[in-house]
Amino acid sequence: MPVGSAPLEFLGELVALRTISADPNRRPVLAYTANLLAKTLSDMGFSALCEEGYGPAPIVWASRGPMGAKNSLIIYGHYDVQPEGPRADWHSDPFQLVELDGLLYGRGVADDKGPIVALLAAIGNVRNWENLRLTVLLEGGEEVGSPEFGDFLRAHRDELASHLAVLSADCGCPDENTPTIITCLRGIITGELTLRTAHRDIHSGYGGCVPNAVQELALLCSKFHREDGSVAIPHFYDGIQKQIDREELAAVRSLAEREELADILGVGCLRDIFSPVPPRAVHGFFPSLEWNGIWGGHTGEGSKTIIPAAAYAKFSLRTVPGQSARVLCAALEDFAQRNCPPYGTVELHCAIHGPAYAIGGPSEAPELHRLLVLLENSLAQEFGHLPLRLREGGSIGAVSDFKEILGLNSLLLGVVPTASHIHAPDENWPIQSFHKTRCALSAFFNGLAR
Ligand code: BES
Ligand code: ZN
Repeated sequence: MPVGSAPLEFLGELVALRTISADPNRRPVLAYTANLLAKTLSDMGFSALCEEGYGPAPIVWASRGPMGAKNSLIIYGHYDVQPEGPRADWHSDPFQLVELDGLLYGRGVADDKGPIVALLAAIGNVRNWENLRLTVLLEGGEEVGSPEFGDFLRAHRDELASHLAVLSADCGCPDENTPTIITCLRGIITGELTLRTAHRDIHSGYGGCVPNAVQELALLCSKFHREDGSVAIPHFYDGIQKQIDREELAAVRSLAEREELADILGVGCLRDIFSPVPPRAVHGFFPSLEWNGIWGGHTGEGSKTIIPAAAYAKFSLRTVPGQSARVLCAALEDFAQRNCPPYGTVELHCAIHGPAYAIGGPSEAPELHRLLVLLENSLAQEFGHLPLRLREGGSIGAVSDFKEILGLNSLLLGVVPTASHIHAPDENWPIQSFHKTRCALSAFFNGLAR
């Protein structure tokens, strides 16, 4: 389906493809989607291919425009998505694009299939390729930490490192009228904690005299945070920036007033641990540790009267610039061991996905800032004002790979509002965000092509 004349139909086709990278059974649909995207790019005049052997899904690699063009960019996006569950909390089929009251609904519609389609539609409007070269890289393993994306970059360093910078639209913004340029992404570590208290499950008739792994794990997990919500692991906040730039603080404070974040997120309150940094901005400035899931014993239908022998928890830890993932993993492991009851055993495994990324200032990265100003002006034309420059709490593994392996900085465009509920039920994207993003990017690319 041509992207240019029917972009939303194309988005519908992509949303219907269940490209869940965490599910090994979805490999065929990931490969199918990669081929579909490569074919689409090839129909747009790109030389396109799917490269296999790097991570859970092929990397779509397509280029157009002369080598050595005045302006050259890598366009990065990901066609994989997070699992859709809990399914019962969706108001529509997660794998069907639905438009309702100005919002497009479906898994991946905002993260990152919608922004990819907006980018492709904008690229389709480039009128003159003499001064512009674009290399589109779309991966299918971002949502599992881009495990081998760095190896792909290493293998093609010569072809890829010659670009000026990377552009991605895989970031967030406060609301649909306020796009952002993201100045900092957090790094991420994911992991699993296992606590074992017995060789096998025990009849709960013995309850009262034997330890219970679920209970012990709940107790252990609760020790990782203080009552106010801050992390209790010694040295957890080491290395973070002590002084926050006054201009940056003013920007986030004005933002906090404009947004009812607790309402949008559907929570009863927001923790305010790091005053004067307002809750809205905390995720950009501080590291965090979240339990993503906890289970053990019988969780199926009906009852089963046992005392579970083992219990499990999954976590994600976000780092900020100045922190070492290895040091934090060791601190976590040590904390778990020291707080394990003497009659139990604990195991903690970490997977490091990448460090935090921060764009340098204009003197460190003049080329990036030239492009950034052009992008900001293109956004201002569409949205009526300049985007905000903000830090983000999320992570994109590939962005630090681009920096570390190719030395390339990233222009990180945030066009996905907080209310888009990415990774959650009822993921959505305002249709206006789609159109404005497409038009702003069109102006940006045509500006570069001049
Ligand atoms: N689009 C997000 C990253 C993001 C989210 C940036 C919000 C800015 C604001 C991306 O698809 C994502 O979710 N990344 C994962 C990476 C992880 C699985 C290694 C993340 O941050 O959880
Ligand atoms: Zn995501």
